Amino acid sequence: MDVAQAFRLDERVAIVTGGGSGIGEASAAVLAGAGARVVVADLDRDNAERVAKAITNDGGDAVAQQVDVSDKQAVDDLVASTLAESGRLDVLLNNAGIMLRSPLLEVSAEEFEQMLAVNLKSVLHGTQAAARVMKPGSAIVNTLSTIIDFSTPGTGSYAVTKKGAEALTRTFAVELGPLGIRVNGIAPGWTESGMTKGSAVDERGAFDRTTFDELAGRMSARSPLEGVTEPLDSAFAVLYLASAASRFVTGHVVRVNGGASMA
Ligand SMILES: NC(=O)c1ccc[n+]([C@@H]2O[C@H](COP(=O)([O-])OP(=O)(O)OC[C@H]3O[C@@H](n4cnc5c(N)ncnc54)[C@H](O)[C@@H]3O)[C@@H](O)[C@H]2O)c1
Repeated sequence: MDVAQAFRLDERVAIVTGGGSGIGEASAAVLAGAGARVVVADLDRDNAERVAKAITNDGGDAVAQQVDVSDKQAVDDLVASTLAESGRLDVLLNNAGIMLRSPLLEVSAEEFEQMLAVNLKSVLHGTQAAARVMKPGSAIVNTLSTIIDFSTPGTGSYAVTKKGAEALTRTFAVELGPLGIRVNGIAPGWTESGMTKGSAVDERGAFDRTTFDELAGRMSARSPLEGVTEPLDSAFAVLYLASAASRFVTGHVVRVNGGASMA
């Protein structure tokens, strides 16, 4: 048995949304490292291009694509252009996401709608578009969050989107299973990324390292392994779920959080 081969993605094509930063950036690099051609799709065109270039410089195969995943038509176009340019689609990582913090008593209708559009409806629309063109053996992975297991103040609308995406993961898994398409999720723990750096800011809105490190320390204390998630930890879980190594796994969520959900 060639164990390494089970994790290879040679001649496969993968789309990674939110691939321009953090967990998506690491996942794009790992999927490319396993042999896939990766479409690095992000709202931030410069970052998408930076990541695709880094992968190419490393000997991998990647292209950048600007997309707003909250726009259904743009998501349909992303899948269509991938098919036109790369001939197939084997893996979709629905990973793009945002975090707007507000207590539920104060959250505005606009803010709630934005969270739903970017974090939840994107998963529905991305999976619909991808599943229509995917062949048996393909895999969809959704980036959820440890928030599916905890409630914390200020993250209610974010939690709704991630619990909703978990429900989409499971229902798509049963609906797409007969087509040979697997649908799974990863639930990363607290990870140093653009998102978490954006919520550790001082009064002027500038990144505050002290606040950030305090937060990291609190999150680390929740894990029996005493640490926080690194983007690469999530990326390796994505690789497992995207590859034939997980060929009989669907509707599952891998919690990449050092055991924090057990606390
Ligand atoms: N950082 C954490 O602690 C953590 C924990 C659990 C889950 N997550 C999830 O991981 C995913 C990736 O987040 P991250 O931590 O790497 O943050 P990040 O901010 O570093 O990366 C998110 C990427 O998504 C892109 N993006 C945002 N809105 C978009 C849109 N409308 N269309 C296309 N791209 C868009 C951003 O430009 C950015 O490149 C998110 O779904 C997030 O909810 C993060």
